[in-house]
Amino acid sequence: ERKSINRGVTVTDVILVVKTGNAQLKSKISKISREFSYDETAYNLPISFALTGVAVHDKSTAATVFTKTGDNPLVASECLLAEATAATGKESAPFTGFISDTVIRKLGYSLVDGSILGLSLIVGTPESAGSAAAICRELQEKYMLTFLAGGVIPTLSSAGVKLGLDYRLIPLGSKPLHGVHFVDIVARVAMMFGGVSPGDTGRLLAYAAERAKAIVIVFPGLTDEEIAFVDGMRVLGFPILSLGGYEGGEWTTATPDTIVRTGMDLKGIRVNVTAIPIPMGCSPAFEGKSIRKEEMQVEFGGGRSPAFELLRMKNPGEIEDGMVTVIGPEIDSMKEGGAYPLGIIIEVTGKSMKKDYEPVLERRIHNFVNYGEGSWHVAQRDLIWVRISKEAFAKGVKIEHLGKLLASKFRMDFPQLLDAVAVTLITEKEKVLVGKREAETIYADRDARIKGMRDHEVDTYYSCTLCQTFAPNHVCIITPERPALCGAISWLDGKIAFEMSPAGANQPVEKGSLINAQNGEFEGVNRFVKKASHGEIERCSLYSVMEYPMTCCGCFEVIALMLPEVNGIMVVNREYKGMTPSGMTFSTLAGTIGGGAQTPGFAGISKNYILSDRFLQGEGGIERLVWMPSQLKDELKPRLGPLLTAKGHPDLFDKIADETIAETIEDLTDFLNRVCHPALAMKPLM
Ligand code: SF4
Ligand code: NI
Repeated sequence: ERKSINRGVTVTDVILVVKTGNAQLKSKISKISREFSYDETAYNLPISFALTGVAVHDKSTAATVFTKTGDNPLVASECLLAEATAATGKESAPFTGFISDTVIRKLGYSLVDGSILGLSLIVGTPESAGSAAAICRELQEKYMLTFLAGGVIPTLSSAGVKLGLDYRLIPLGSKPLHGVHFVDIVARVAMMFGGVSPGDTGRLLAYAAERAKAIVIVFPGLTDEEIAFVDGMRVLGFPILSLGGYEGGEWTTATPDTIVRTGMDLKGIRVNVTAIPIPMGCSPAFEGKSIRKEEMQVEFGGGRSPAFELLRMKNPGEIEDGMVTVIGPEIDSMKEGGAYPLGIIIEVTGKSMKKDYEPVLERRIHNFVNYGEGSWHVAQRDLIWVRISKEAFAKGVKIEHLGKLLASKFRMDFPQLLDAVAVTLITEKEKVLVGKREAETIYADRDARIKGMRDHEVDTYYSCTLCQTFAPNHVCIITPERPALCGAISWLDGKIAFEMSPAGANQPVEKGSLINAQNGEFEGVNRFVKKASHGEIERCSLYSVMEYPMTCCGCFEVIALMLPEVNGIMVVNREYKGMTPSGMTFSTLAGTIGGGAQTPGFAGISKNYILSDRFLQGEGGIERLVWMPSQLKDELKPRLGPLLTAKGHPDLFDKIADETIAETIEDLTDFLNRVCHPALAMKPLM
C-alpha cells in the first residue's frame, strides 16, 4: 500500500521530493534581490550563523552559506523566509514571526527548572480541528512548549483554542516555512546558553541532538519545499512524526492519539503527570495566562476585598491529608463580577519539614493557582489577587476545587518533604479579617528572621548547576547577599532545595579560607567551581565584575559591565531595548557573554543583587554605579533610594544616569562631570 503524504507524492518518491524541494529552494536563493536582517537579535540569521559563523544579509552571503553547508534546506529556508519577511513586513497578530533574544532568555529558567520539559513544532494543516486541539492540549498537559506554523493555526483558532506564549502554543506564522523560527530558537539556545561558537557545526549538531528536547509533528498539506525544510530538521536529531501517511522510513507515522507520546518517547522526554480530579485543566502551560475583567466570574483581594494566603507547618497527625474545607459561601452564591474576601490556609506536615521552609513553599501557591486553566493569581501574602473565570465556573469549578488543586500539587511536587497537606479556604468576611491579622504577624516574624542574614555569618553557600542542561560548565554560587543571576533562587531556596533533594542541582559549598575579602574570593568556593565546571574555571570571586567574575549561563536578569572611560560600572536589564553608553544594546551584550564562560569586566546578575551591600564591593562599592535604564531605575527606586541614603549618599540616586540623560559615552561623561559623580574620583578600574 502506498499512501501519500502530500498532494500525490508517493513513498518511493520521498527522497526525491526532498531533493526536488531543495533544488527549488536553491533556485530561489539565486533570485534573492534585496537585503534582509532580523531586529532584536545578536545572532543575525541564527541557523546560518550558528552553522557557519557567516552573518547572512543578502544574496551572496546566503549563497555562500548554502554552499558551505552542502545545500542545507534549513539554511535555504531561513534565508528565503528572512527575505520574504523583509519584502512584506512582519505578519500581523496573532502571528509572532521571529522571536526576540529577550523572550528566549526569559524562557531560560523554565527550560531548566522542569516546568518546560521539551519543545515541539507543529506544521501543516490538520484534517480535523478536534484532533489538532487534542494534540495541543496533550502537549500543554505534558509540559511541552509548542510552536505552530501554517494551516494548523487558523484550524486551532476556529476551534476556540487560545494561542500565545502564555498558553505555550506559539503561532509563528501563516506558512509551514515559518517553522524556521523554531529552529532559529534552538540555534540561539545553543549559542546563548550552550557556549556553542558560531561556525562550530559539529558542536551545534551535537548540542541540538543531545540537549534540545525537541520533536516535530507534521500534518498534511506540505509542498515539496516545505517537506525539504522539515526533513532538514532530522540532522538536529529531532524526531519527525507524521500524521499524513509518510512511510519513507525516516519519519515516524503515528495517529493523533499516540503521536505526542511516541515523539516524547523517541526523544527520551519523560513526564509524570497525574491528573487532578477537578473540572479544569491543570498544567504549567496555563501559568502565564490572564483572566481579564470581562472573562472573570468572581475575584478576591487585589485591593477590592480583604484576602491573604498562609502556609504553616503542623505536627504529624494534626491534619488529615487531602482534606479541603471551605468556610463561608461557595462560588454559586456569589454575584457574577463581584469581589469577595478570601483566606487561603495551607497546613502541612512532614518528617523533614522545617519552619524555615514555610515561606518558600508558600510562594508556590502563586504558581499552582495559575496552573489551573480557569484560575489566576498575582502577588503574595496579604496582597494576593485571585480570579476564577466564567468559563471555569460554567464547567462547575468551585472554590473547593482550588483547594483540591493546591493540596494535590503540594503533595505531587514535594513527595519527599510532605506527608500530609490540608487546605482551608475562608470566604466569610469576619473570619478572613481575623485570619489576615494573624497572618500579618507571622509574615513580620519571618521577615525579621531572614532579614539581615549576611554572607560572613554563614560558612556554607549553595551552588546551582541547573543551567548545565544548556551551559555545561556553568556554576552559580548563591550566598545570602548574592541571589542567583536568574533571580529565581535565593540562598534559602538553595539550602532548602538541597535538604529536600540532596543529590540535586543545589549543593552546599564550604567557603573555606579567605583569599580576597574585597572581591569575595574563597579557597573552598574556587575548589567547588573548578570541579563543577569540569576544570574550566579556576577562580571565582563573588563580588567582583572585573576579576574572576562568576560565569554566566544566559538567563541573567541584568548585565553589569565596566565603562573604563568613566571609571564606572553600568547595569542594563533584559527588558530594555534601547542603546546603552557601552555602544551596545542588551541583546548584543548578552550575545558576547554567557554560555558558561567567565568574562572579566562583565557579570550577569539579578535585579535584587543591585540592592545588596555586596554589589560592586570588589570595585569599591555602589558609588561605581553610573548608568541604568530609567525603567529599572523606577522599579528599584523605592528600595534603592533609601538604601543609598542609609549609606550616606542621599544624592547618589539622582547622579546615576539613564537613557533620558545619556545614551552615548560622551554624553555620560559630560553628565557625570557635571554632577560630580563619585566614580570619577575612585581608584582606576583598570
Ligand atoms: Fe541557572 Fe544559576 Fe538560576 Fe540555577 S541559579 S537556574 S544555574 S541561573
Ligand atoms: Ni541559566
